[in-house]
Amino acid sequence: MPRQSYVNGRYVPHASAAVHIEDRGYQFADGVYEVIAVAGGAIVDEGPHMERLFRSLAEMKMTAPASAASMHVILHEVMRRCRVRDGAVYLQISRGVAPRNHAWPADIKPAMVVTARPIAWPRNFAEVRAIEILAVPDQRWGRPDIKTVALLPNALARMQADAAGAADAWMVDEDGMVTEGTSANAWIVTEAGELITRQLSRAILAGVTRRAILEFAGANMLAITERAFSLEEAKAAREAFQTSTTALVKPIKKIDETVIGDGQPGPVTAKVFEAYLAYLTSFGGGN
Ligand code: PDD
Repeated sequence: MPRQSYVNGRYVPHASAAVHIEDRGYQFADGVYEVIAVAGGAIVDEGPHMERLFRSLAEMKMTAPASAASMHVILHEVMRRCRVRDGAVYLQISRGVAPRNHAWPADIKPAMVVTARPIAWPRNFAEVRAIEILAVPDQRWGRPDIKTVALLPNALARMQADAAGAADAWMVDEDGMVTEGTSANAWIVTEAGELITRQLSRAILAGVTRRAILEFAGANMLAITERAFSLEEAKAAREAFQTSTTALVKPIKKIDETVIGDGQPGPVTAKVFEAYLAYLTSFGGGN
């Protein structure tokens, strides 16, 4: 069966899946999305992803084109048609199609697309390679807490990192504090052993991976402080890593020209990774 995607009520071959040229997602980046992990045939953290999606919709003054229950059915159907048991599903809702005008008509109908792709999750921490990070100014708008498809600053930062030989960029605000990665939340372990990630605000996305780690921290004897940290503090850290749905827990060995710790993935990162991997695989009943 060739890969199929969902477009506005229909399952279509992925290669020919299309939306109208006057879709506002295309013309104004007027849309929201979620990337959701699939492990062992199960959707991981569907509740928190749906909660964040509906919050994004509300903040954008958009109406949902379907209920969370209908979305659940559609996600599973795309996974089934694409034979994805381990991977990610992508769900995007744009405001819909209308003649190009900054103002949208009151009766505009939101458009929804869903795609799925396979990912081979790492089986253990030994398989995970540490990455290098480039620090760049955070040039995004004032609401990175809304998961919109307006990702141009993130994409430009990612390409800048690429050109510098780094795998990702950490964005830094006007006060010299790290906000987050281009598609991941940022974490450090200080010399004193404090595990830190920035507190939720309008400045960062409320990562679902971040949320899960905070939730099972107690059971894994991890003390986490939610506060902003500077780029300087990150460079002086003993360990650094970033978290996201698709990259899970990614160790960082270098920020700009500064080697982090001894340049090897550290024990706290390993502990967070192992705990998260166990959590991920538990959704499919354990692989
Ligand atoms: N990115 N911060 C930003 C800016 C992100 O785009 C993401 C997710 C995260 C991590 O959130 P979560 O743990 O819920 O994946 C943080 C997705 C994976 C993406 O755009 O591909």
